[in-house]
Amino acid sequence: MRNPRDFFQPLAIGAPDPVREIPFRPSRMIHFLNFANEKMVAKVPEIAPTVDILLGNLEDAVSVDDKVAAREGLIKVGSEVDLGDTQLWTRINSLESPWVLDDLTELVTRIGNKLDVIMIPKVEGAQDIHYVDRLVAQLEAKAGVTRPILLHAILETASGMVNVEAIASASPRMQGISLGPADLAASRRMKTTRVGGGHPGYVSIADPTEDGAERRTAQQDPWHYTIARMVDACTANGILPFYGPFGDIKDTEACEAQFRAAFLLGCVGTWSLHPVQIGIAKKVFSPDPDEVRFAKKVIEAIPDGRGVHMIDGKMQDDATWKQSKVLVDLATLLAEKDPELKTAYGL
Ligand code: GLV
Ligand code: MG
Repeated sequence: MRNPRDFFQPLAIGAPDPVREIPFRPSRMIHFLNFANEKMVAKVPEIAPTVDILLGNLEDAVSVDDKVAAREGLIKVGSEVDLGDTQLWTRINSLESPWVLDDLTELVTRIGNKLDVIMIPKVEGAQDIHYVDRLVAQLEAKAGVTRPILLHAILETASGMVNVEAIASASPRMQGISLGPADLAASRRMKTTRVGGGHPGYVSIADPTEDGAERRTAQQDPWHYTIARMVDACTANGILPFYGPFGDIKDTEACEAQFRAAFLLGCVGTWSLHPVQIGIAKKVFSPDPDEVRFAKKVIEAIPDGRGVHMIDGKMQDDATWKQSKVLVDLATLLAEKDPELKTAYGL
């Protein structure tokens, strides 16, 4: 660990100064695309305004034969397409792969000023973040990048899970963490082939009754502990937690339920793997207009955020005032991007 005095020093001479606060921009969905597909590159001007974050995926789901084309496609998007206020991210190949050194070198030196965040898969501990942190600083300095590129870890190994707090605090570049339920399930030897969501076998069961009636069961959320722990690690370190992929594209109802559970536990956004998931993410990760109106009422009624008050029959105090502020601040940010939400929130 660097000492507190050095923590905010650049890691290479000529690299930009690290940020002290992680900028909070609309981040409801990180939309994954494979830019090896030229048709996808051509569609970017159409897709970009419909999402908060566009991510050029280089890792899993991109075939070995397409690794270089996916990287070059992303560089084309970064250098030629105006994305407006939509962020541009990438997911690089994993640190043990033969592609990652070129991924970092090519991306930072050719589109470093356009790339907002680099997502690192299969992070095992703070050492992985330290490696990328120094290398990115060297490349930023070489390429004259003017503001630091931020880092985002995927929580998808058992060892990453054990070290999640150290990962979250490993560098001032750390922007956030996403859950990777597929790799994490494999790493933990969970017995499921699903990507996120519940499982009919993971249930709690009611006690037996004397009349021998069939016992009720209820599906439980196998990701509850993981998401809650990730949210704590992130928020304790001033960075942003995200849910990750939901693999059953056709089951939009289950996707919405998974996204909502993550939103309620504190995640700011999710991945979208298919256009149908963009709308679901927008719906779930934009706070509910009725809740926003109520939160506004609380803030207006208690200007100094102190004391105990009854509003619409509900007890309000310093803590609920802060809860209301979280909702109203998010709604205000989203309303600036989305005129429909602005009207719905009455902001
Ligand atoms: C995502 O990368 C996952 O493994 O779920
Ligand atoms: Mg993965």
